[in-house]
Amino acid sequence: MHPSEEIYCEKSNKLYGKTIVLGITGSIAAVNCFALVRELVRNGAKVIPAMTEAACRLVAPDSLEFASGNKPITGIGGQTEHIKFLGDHTDADLFLVYPATANTISKMANGIADSPVTDMAAVALGGSVPVAVAPAMHGYMMENPSVAENLRRLASWGVSVIGPRIEGDKARVASVSEVLAWSIKLLSRDDLRGRKILVIGGRSEEPIDSMRLITNRSSGMMAVALVQRAFERGADVELWMGGGSVVLPDYVRVRRYESVEDLVGMLDSIDHDVVIVPAALADFTPEKVAEGKIPSGKGLSLKLKPVPKVLPLIRERCANVIGYKAESNLSRGDLEMKARARLNEYGLRAVVANDIDSAGKTSASMMLVTEDSAADITGTKPDISDYILNFVSEKLRWPPRSAPGT
Ligand SMILES: Cc1cc2nc3c(=O)[nH]c(=O)nc-3n(C[C@H](O)[C@H](O)[C@H](O)COP(=O)(O)O)c2cc1C
Repeated sequence: MHPSEEIYCEKSNKLYGKTIVLGITGSIAAVNCFALVRELVRNGAKVIPAMTEAACRLVAPDSLEFASGNKPITGIGGQTEHIKFLGDHTDADLFLVYPATANTISKMANGIADSPVTDMAAVALGGSVPVAVAPAMHGYMMENPSVAENLRRLASWGVSVIGPRIEGDKARVASVSEVLAWSIKLLSRDDLRGRKILVIGGRSEEPIDSMRLITNRSSGMMAVALVQRAFERGADVELWMGGGSVVLPDYVRVRRYESVEDLVGMLDSIDHDVVIVPAALADFTPEKVAEGKIPSGKGLSLKLKPVPKVLPLIRERCANVIGYKAESNLSRGDLEMKARARLNEYGLRAVVANDIDSAGKTSASMMLVTEDSAADITGTKPDISDYILNFVSEKLRWPPRSAPGT
């Protein structure tokens, strides 16, 4: 068994059965391609590397063969590898260039085929295999009018341009996690394409003094899983995140809030089709926030005042809101009853009811309570996200729900 098979589908089967031809060109970012290949394999893809001469000077083909289990194509020979892998009878599902130099992008946009990668691109762009490029270059190269025009040209032909992220004068290549998410998105059903989804997650942090906070045990894992799956299913997704202990995806728009008051101040910018709220928000906040640090060593009494309920305020701005309700030690029937009461009181589309025990866990049991059903969902947080997003996808043809009390 080749060592790459040991990690095959280790993380998921989202790319199971998919073949990705990975073009690697002569940017120093090529050193990231081992990590990318391994992530693609861990999620079920078969990866065929193709390398330019400049790429081979920066990274060794043997290492890529080790990472992918397949011999990299470093020259087109009598096997006409460009046709074999991207022509009519190909098994390839995606041609991905990571990293993509200014040189290769410009050649691709002008029909020049003079390296294994541009030969492959020339076939893919005339055929039916989807093409994606992740540009990597100095910011000035990116602003070079001819490179910029070539990139626009590729985009106008339907090529997906992944990143780059502009930082100062650098155009940083997209991260491995972003390219992985794009690969999954390009190779999955995109039933949420064009839908604007906002996920509000994490925990609120109510200040006691300049140092101390009142918060809770929510990790933000559920919100991140929802955002990832919504992105991979084609949604235009945004994350508003309070405190938490998970790594946030770097390929979606993220806005941060601390207190419930901060979050309430952000609500006017809601113009989304759907808002999903797995956030754990405070019910109370200290009446006064002390300047500096309250001295330790003595007792402390805090006077708390209630904060506004956020779900009804979101509901005023969006017809399709899915809330969460966390309780402890309730029977299934009582949990459903509480969730349904919230659904009706606030005019929500659904409530995801769960036990507080699910906070910080990778897998959980929850219940999706809707107007006419209550379904148990058990699985990993990405599985639970998919269940909720299936409901969103089916119900996006919802007629507008009237505001509560009308
Ligand atoms: C260490 C090193 C790093 C480079 N990084 C980049 C880069 O990030 N982006 C880029 O467009 N060119 C970069 N170049 C220049 C390209 O390698 C050069 O333009 C080459 O002709 C690209 O050929 P290819 O597109 O066939 O791989 C780099 C060169 C070297 C030696």
